Amino acid sequence: MLTPINEFLRPVEETVRKYQKYIGYFFVGLSFASLPFIFLPEFQKDTGEQAWNVLLFILFLPILSKVLGLRVAQALMPLRKEIGIFMGTLAFVHGAGYLFQYPEFLLDGVFWWQNGMVTYFAAGFFALLLTIPLLLTSNLWAMKKLGKNWKKLHRATYGVAILTVVHIVLIGWSKDHAEIGPVLILVAYFIGKTLEWKGITLKKPH
Ligand code: HEM
Repeated sequence: MLTPINEFLRPVEETVRKYQKYIGYFFVGLSFASLPFIFLPEFQKDTGEQAWNVLLFILFLPILSKVLGLRVAQALMPLRKEIGIFMGTLAFVHGAGYLFQYPEFLLDGVFWWQNGMVTYFAAGFFALLLTIPLLLTSNLWAMKKLGKNWKKLHRATYGVAILTVVHIVLIGWSKDHAEIGPVLILVAYFIGKTLEWKGITLKKPH
């Protein structure tokens, strides 16, 4: 089904395969370049939105690759570590940037709990907390040291996705509008993941 799309994207796929190492360096470079934004509160919302977009890209890549058989996604799969470092750095710049501005807010009860429910700050905080070990172990050294446990640890990405959706939904709620989009995306993701776990694929057999 994806043959025409794969054919159309063949030059991109070949470029990704040829320059994979450099594209990886590029994402690590982007991560370092995004760090100064921690001191620019006017970009705080943008870095949060970009962290979410990059997270979605990482989450859907295996589904596009394994379930749909999109070859450019297959070429990008080995770069998930580097793209993950970029996502983690953006999430850190966004969340920690806010906390650097208002550190005392962490000690205030309303940071965690308001109107009888958990706040969007708390959901974001826990999403960020889960992101940090993933960020620190997104390298070959940690992969070798952790062995099989690396994969188990990196399943925490599902938790980051769920907590980020809670964060976004509660932000919408605080402004009296319903954020349905991220919830639907999360449902689509888990449907795709179930197909992947069951080995269901639209890929043509070789
Ligand atoms: C300590 C952790 C965090 C704090 C304190 C925090 C705080 C905030 C704040 C204050 C906003 C702006 C809300 C507004 O527009 O009124 C925001 C927006 C946002 N944050 Fe976070 N955040 C945290 C972690 C995260 C993480 C880890 C992600 C994603 C991986 C994330 C994604 C977003 C997104 C996508 C928005 C824009 C939502 C929208 O306007 O629809 N945040 N966050």
